[in-house]
Amino acid sequence: MRKLDIVICGGGNGACACAALQLKKGHQVSLFTAVPGEAEQIRTRLTKNGGLDATVRGERLEGLQVNVTDDPAVLSSAAVIFVIVPAFAHSTILEQISQHMQKDALVVIMPARGLLELDLEKYIPDANVIACQTLPWACRLNAEGTHVEIKGAKNGMQAATRPKDLSDVWFGIAEELIEMPFTRVKNMLTLTLSNIGQIFHPGIMYGLFRDDPNRTYAEEECPLFYQGVDQRSADTLEAVSREIHAIANELKKSNPDIELDKIETPTQWLLRSYAGQIEDESSLKTMLNTNKAYRGIKAPMVKLENGRYKPNFQARYITEDLPFSLLPTKYLGLQAGVDTPAIDQLIRETGAWIGCDFLGDIENAERLKKRSRLPLFY
Ligand code: NAI
Repeated sequence: MRKLDIVICGGGNGACACAALQLKKGHQVSLFTAVPGEAEQIRTRLTKNGGLDATVRGERLEGLQVNVTDDPAVLSSAAVIFVIVPAFAHSTILEQISQHMQKDALVVIMPARGLLELDLEKYIPDANVIACQTLPWACRLNAEGTHVEIKGAKNGMQAATRPKDLSDVWFGIAEELIEMPFTRVKNMLTLTLSNIGQIFHPGIMYGLFRDDPNRTYAEEECPLFYQGVDQRSADTLEAVSREIHAIANELKKSNPDIELDKIETPTQWLLRSYAGQIEDESSLKTMLNTNKAYRGIKAPMVKLENGRYKPNFQARYITEDLPFSLLPTKYLGLQAGVDTPAIDQLIRETGAWIGCDFLGDIENAERLKKRSRLPLFY
């Protein structure tokens, strides 16, 4: 394949995993980060380490040389731009892209999360965009930030485009770069509804910590994330999934482009994404507990001064996946007139952990909308 100028927006696990994969292929790769000071920190630690180390599909790579910058001008020569940041950073990154990208570059956003199309319309309405339903890998940087491990690659993922009829040629390029087949969906709204992170992330956090969110833990007591799922949590995940399906069914009546068969249940999604990597497929709980790609992934915790740990409710499992995943879906449910008690309970209780009354805020906004002529409602 021709060597491409590739810019990856983000400096975390997913961005580094993608950088390692593209460097392995010989492409010219830059990491662009918009977080003040992050580029300098990454450069310092990689220089000390002699480059980025990676384990990609069992193969160990060392000393990969990646350009790390906070200068958005780097975007202007990119043929392909990957955006691999939590959804709360999409607007910041897309604004930079809108000001610097070449008109005909390809922008690949992984993952899209909920209602990404609103930000695309605002910032890059004319760009060639492929938006993916998930991140292709379960991946983690080590504590020093010098070694990224792709713990498990999915067998494929859904993706939608803007424009809607973007040529398949672009799909071919993205699949070759990511080394993964994409299932093309017709409409980005399908991605909002099929976003599995909105179910797994807040749902598992709720299951792990609902009984006593204020409890502290000794290091060896800190729970594993997927391996810590019990039957009650698995029931919550399935209830949320059923409600998302009810919303999708209702929306489909006015939007025939929504593909119901692409909105998978957690069980269907796991079996397709991680076929061959799950030891016990007898129930949702056992699938989550025995998926090799999830092995050893811990719940997000923060260390306290006394050496004990407490749950980190500021982690993206809550701060990204409530307001940028499950809440957009809930709002679609409201518009479609679908009752969602399980989703409401999840949003209410995990939202309270971060001091947010999201459902109350929606009600207040709706009330104000009916009683005012404020520009934000137009
Ligand atoms: P991360 O937390 O490691 O990386 C976050 C990066 O995003 C930061 O390094 C920074 O460059 C950027 N960022 C964060 N806040 C920002 C802000 N306010 N403004 C601008 N940039 C900001 O996240 P990770 O693990 O790379 O995940 C990226 C996305 O992939 C998330 O949506 C996550 O939910 C999703 N995902 C990650 C998986 C994984 O195994 N790491 C698995 C499935 C999905």
